[in-house]
Amino acid sequence: TSEETLSFYEAIGGEESFRLLVHRFYEGVAEDPLLRPLYPEEDLAGAEERLRMFLIQYWGGPNTYSQQRGHPRLRMRHAPFVIGEAERDAWLRHMGDAVRSLELPPEREEQLWKYLVYAAHSLVNA
Ligand code: HEM
Repeated sequence: TSEETLSFYEAIGGEESFRLLVHRFYEGVAEDPLLRPLYPEEDLAGAEERLRMFLIQYWGGPNTYSQQRGHPRLRMRHAPFVIGEAERDAWLRHMGDAVRSLELPPEREEQLWKYLVYAAHSLVNA
């Protein structure tokens, strides 16, 4: 199959790449004194799974996220958490480390990163 027919999800390595990305991200969150207290559950495994399923679906992989969670409504789902610029920047710092750890081709990395920056800015609520 030609390159154009692949979803971004497939092109960057499918589920395994998203698993690595989100796992690496939550390793950072687990150690972050600003972000860790925002997460309601003691175990971050559930949050990790939800973000992984969401990103997989967003980038053209299986839509398991919506089957299990319904419409994403990300602004509404983040409303219970105080997200200011500091929280946004901490989130993006861990996500940046995680994105770079994948060592994607520069064009793919930029596409993924632009989306994450845009999405994080759209979720600031304080
Ligand atoms: C859930 C924080 C940005 C996607 C959560 C939760 C917290 C949180 C505390 C609850 C964890 C849980 O599911 O138990 C933040 C902070 C952000 C941020 C501080 C900084 C701006 C983002 C971005 C995305 C995202 C940019 C998407 C690209 C999600 C998803 C869930 C979630 C999919 C699970 C929603 C659900 O199904 O319940 N986030 N988040 N978040 N976040 Fe974020």
